[in-house]
Amino acid sequence: MTALLLYCRPGFEKECLAEVVDAASHKGAFGWANLQPNSGFVLFETEQAEQVYPLLPKLVFTRDGWPVTERLTELDTQDRLTPIIAAIARLEKRNKAGFGNVSCEYAEGDEFHSTSRFASKFVNPLRQALRREGLLTKKERADLPALRLFFSDSSNVIIGVDSPNCRASWPMGVARLKFPAGAPSRSTLKLEEAFIHFLGSDWREQLADHHTAVDLGAAPGGWTWQLVNQKIYVHAVDNGSMDTQLMDTALVDHVQEDGFIWKPKKRVDWLVCDMVEKPAKVARLMYQWLHQQHAKAAIFNLKLPMKKRLHQWQEIKEELDNLIAEQHPSAIFQARHLYHDREEITVYLNLRNQNG
Ligand SMILES: C[S@@+](CC[C@H](N)C(=O)[O-])C[C@H]1O[C@@H](n2cnc3c(N)ncnc32)[C@H](O)[C@@H]1O
Repeated sequence: MTALLLYCRPGFEKECLAEVVDAASHKGAFGWANLQPNSGFVLFETEQAEQVYPLLPKLVFTRDGWPVTERLTELDTQDRLTPIIAAIARLEKRNKAGFGNVSCEYAEGDEFHSTSRFASKFVNPLRQALRREGLLTKKERADLPALRLFFSDSSNVIIGVDSPNCRASWPMGVARLKFPAGAPSRSTLKLEEAFIHFLGSDWREQLADHHTAVDLGAAPGGWTWQLVNQKIYVHAVDNGSMDTQLMDTALVDHVQEDGFIWKPKKRVDWLVCDMVEKPAKVARLMYQWLHQQHAKAAIFNLKLPMKKRLHQWQEIKEELDNLIAEQHPSAIFQARHLYHDREEITVYLNLRNQNG
């Protein structure tokens, strides 16, 4: 029996499972899971793990995931290494490319804190033993498959091999970003994570020739701060107060207007939006801004209701997919429940209609 290990935000296991079941069924694949509420992971049992695995990067509620090939239970606490190395040696026979890294992983849910401490300590002796046995490259190689071990507790582990193309930007999708000194709110990290996730680690270089942006629902200015930090001039639309230090940069125009009505005089490079409003209303507004060429690309949050979170998103996605298919077939439209997102998801939309 094969499976996929999926990571999600604790509390979103149902959405994670329902979304993967739906995506898999479109490929003629089926599976099931015994959910552990608030654990932060889903073990999706499926005979068609190989077929489903490439779909994971497109899923919204799965932060990271990989195919499971070995399961070891009731490990001897005096010697966990021997059976784990033996299992990995079996895997290596099937994987001629070699392994470029190894990680010991755990679930994010509160119940798993002691396992997280164990796994973080175990990885070093494991790495050394694998190198001694010639089962791991001497230096880390991100271009090769990596060995992934998930400990549900310190005696039970499941093992798999990932593929660099399907790997998330951060192991387990946990974006460890440092809170920047001077940023006015913690939600600044949400926009930073979004840029890295959607544009890639060189996002700052990509933004180097971008000069103007609009931030709808900007106060106190965490998102605006990220843009100003890239020397981008921001029209910050919000009736609330903006951080005074940010205003002192002279790179912010505080517009005290309704974000659903106000429009810029000239098209801007970026539109970002964190207004707390009905998600379908925000998504339509974003599409109209780009379609009517008020901005070139947008990153926005959709606040999802507690119930029917996946259903709400699927309805919005269908509406935008239809508009895009008719009017902007080469558009980029991606969404993700980011590590820094709570009851919301983040969307990247670029209609790629800059020239006309
Ligand atoms: C979650 S906060 C934004 C936080 C901001 N992104 C940051 O990083 O500091 C939502 C903001 O949206 C604003 N807002 C809600 N509805 C709005 C509207 N119709 N027009 C403009 N701003 C609105 C609120 O005043 C609030 O400041």
